[in-house]
Amino acid sequence: MSFAADAEMQFLDRFLFAVYLTIAVGMCHWQVTGGAGFIGSHLVDALMLMGHEVTVVDNFFTGRKRNVEHWIGHENFELITHDIVTPLHLESRY
Ligand SMILES: NC(=O)c1ccc[n+]([C@@H]2O[C@H](COP(=O)([O-])OP(=O)(O)OC[C@H]3O[C@@H](n4cnc5c(N)ncnc54)[C@H](O)[C@@H]3O)[C@@H](O)[C@H]2O)c1
Repeated sequence: MSFAADAEMQFLDRFLFAVYLTIAVGMCHWQVTGGAGFIGSHLVDALMLMGHEVTVVDNFFTGRKRNVEHWIGHENFELITHDIVTPLHLESRY
């Protein structure tokens, strides 16, 4: 199998696992630390598209607001500027 096909299979596996988790667990409230970064913002996109509630906590040390700005204003999305070195207490209805 070529590298591209292998990567596609891995992506499909992860996507199906995420769908399975959503069905099994239901909707959740996720906190994504570093959610304004490269990897975190893709995770945020996937979770938001699945209909989850997402709170991004980021100190914007290397992350960029533009990575998540398309979700700002969405009822399921919250963005908190915070450095996780110090404790953060969040409430969730789940
Ligand atoms: N287009 C591209 O291909 C591309 C773009 C960006 C990065 N990359 C690469 O992707 C790799 C992984 O990127 P990544 O997502 O791990 O890094 P990242 O720097 O993009 O994301 C880390 C996130 O964590 C945040 N963060 C760091 N310390 C924190 C703290 N104490 N409290 C709160 N938030 C904190 C940062 O502000 C950032 O938003 C890197 O090797 C990078 O070079 C590739």
